[in-house]
Amino acid sequence: MGTAIGVRRPGRLFVAALVALAAALPGWAQQPSVPYVPTPQEVVDRMLAMGKVGKNDYLIDLGSGDGRIVVTAAKRFGTRGFGVDLNPARIEESVANAKAAGVTDLVAFYQRDLFETDLSSATVITMYLLPRVNLELRPRLLNLRPGTRIVSHDFDMDEWRPDERAELDVKDKWGAGSSGKSSVYLWIVPAPVAGTWRFSLPAGARTNEYELTLEQRFQNVAGTVRVAGRTAKVTAAKLNGAGIALDFTVDLGAGPVRHQLTGRADANAIAGRAKLSGTRIESEADWSAVRPPVEAR
Ligand SMILES: C[S@@+](CC[C@H](N)C(=O)[O-])C[C@H]1O[C@@H](n2cnc3c(N)ncnc32)[C@H](O)[C@@H]1O
Repeated sequence: MGTAIGVRRPGRLFVAALVALAAALPGWAQQPSVPYVPTPQEVVDRMLAMGKVGKNDYLIDLGSGDGRIVVTAAKRFGTRGFGVDLNPARIEESVANAKAAGVTDLVAFYQRDLFETDLSSATVITMYLLPRVNLELRPRLLNLRPGTRIVSHDFDMDEWRPDERAELDVKDKWGAGSSGKSSVYLWIVPAPVAGTWRFSLPAGARTNEYELTLEQRFQNVAGTVRVAGRTAKVTAAKLNGAGIALDFTVDLGAGPVRHQLTGRADANAIAGRAKLSGTRIESEADWSAVRPPVEAR
């Protein structure tokens, strides 16, 4: 799939100047003029691999250019999805590319502002925009269903650190024979887990009541737990979409007991498994925690 017929690829310096100018201008994100620079096919392939895009995904490319990301995913994996672009010429190219690839039943292209696009059906979002545009999109992306993957070419999202990043040497980054580097970033939308959670767990003959307070910044979680009149810090916490894993050690009255909790967060409940290990306790049980809904907090 090539660049538009009759349209010359922009030179490297021209593109770099456009990107620098776009990044510097305030309010640029509102404009249609994020420059059209296609993602080289090998970078498209890496983006789809990093996002673990598959048949059951629904992919939305924001600023979809000639549709290559959406069309490649559909052709290679049978992925459904759509692209939006403000430029009608890009939409025409995309439709032609989808036809040529035989994937018109899986994909669609809309001439639409990405800021006015409903993203709720996405399991994967791809984008090759600009730093400022990524940042403007960030609050909306963080509100998507936990577990949604966001894959960006070249530009990050500032203090929302990526869950994965790769740098590639790309032979034709700026057009045929003009090499350069590409970065690919992946974020997994984290479930909102901050707040105070309550649960109980059996330990030997008794059942203990726990109060777990979690703080969260993007996918980073820290916390403290109160149980049996003692307080302990959560020593390891991992949040991957809706999946959460917590590790802490606390004295339940007869020596330290390590707690390894795993589960899935869904609105105001977490459900999973809890493993307790100490000198007198070795157990594994289902675990479920609740947190008062936002309006009651
Ligand atoms: C750098 S190109 C990326 C094209 C394609 N995603 C790719 O990776 O090959 C950015 C595209 O975003 C489009 N675009 C810029 N601002 C937009 C907006 N507000 N809404 C929709 N599309 C936009 C441009 O027309 C351009 O085609």
